[in-house]
Amino acid sequence: MTITTCIFDAYGTLFDVNAAARAAAAEPGRTLFAARSPALAEKWRLKQLEYSWQRAIRGIHCDFWQVTQDGLDWAMASEGIEDPELRERLLSLYWQLDAFPEVPHMLAALRGRGLATGILSNGSPEMLSGAVQSAGLEDLLGAVLSVESVGVFKPARPVYDLVGQHFGCAPKEVLFVSSNGWDASAAAEYGFVTAWVNRAGQPAERLPGTPAHVLSDLSSLPDLDLF
Ligand code: LAC
Repeated sequence: MTITTCIFDAYGTLFDVNAAARAAAAEPGRTLFAARSPALAEKWRLKQLEYSWQRAIRGIHCDFWQVTQDGLDWAMASEGIEDPELRERLLSLYWQLDAFPEVPHMLAALRGRGLATGILSNGSPEMLSGAVQSAGLEDLLGAVLSVESVGVFKPARPVYDLVGQHFGCAPKEVLFVSSNGWDASAAAEYGFVTAWVNRAGQPAERLPGTPAHVLSDLSSLPDLDLF
C-alpha cells in the first residue's frame, strides 16, 4: 500500500525541546545557570514525559502544559535552582521553540510530492499552535492533532486512532515519524509504517513494535523508497 500521509511527533522531532534552556543560558547574567542548563534540560524533558505516562496510567489527565510546568519544577528543584524569573523565562521560551533546521525543506518536499502532512502530539492545541506559528510552519502542515481531543497521552492507542479519523486513511498508508523511541515503537505496533529519528544515537527500545526506518535526522526522509 502506498504512503499517502506523513504524520510527525512535535517535541523533539520537529521542535528542539532543548532550545529553551539553551536560549536562556545564552542570556546576559545567566553564567551560573549556563553550566547547569544541559542537565536541567535533560531532567525537564524526562520528568515531563514521566508525568505524562503516570497520568495516562492513573487516569488523571491534565494538559501537556501542566506536565511541562511540573517537570520543570522538579528539574529546577533537583538542580537546586530557585529562581522564579528564570522559571518564567524558560516556560515562555517553550512556546517559541526552534524547529530543527531541516524541517521546512523536508515538509515542503513531501507536500511537493502530493503527500498529506500533519502533527500528532501530546502538546495542547495552544502550545502546538504557538510552536507552529513561531517556526513559520503553518502552510506546510495540513493538520495539527492534539491528544486533548481524547484526553489521554501517547502511547495510548486512542491517540493514534486520531490520524485515521482525521485523514480517512488506513494505518498502512501512514508514515509516522518520531524522535522518541517509545513513540515510534508504539506507532509501529499500532500498524503505521514508522520512522524513528534517532537524533541522540540511542539504543533501540526493548518494546513490542519495531520502526521500519531509522534516520539520524529528517533531511533524508523524502528520499525513503516509500512515496
Ligand atoms: C509529543 C511529545 C511526546 O510531541 O514529544 O507528543
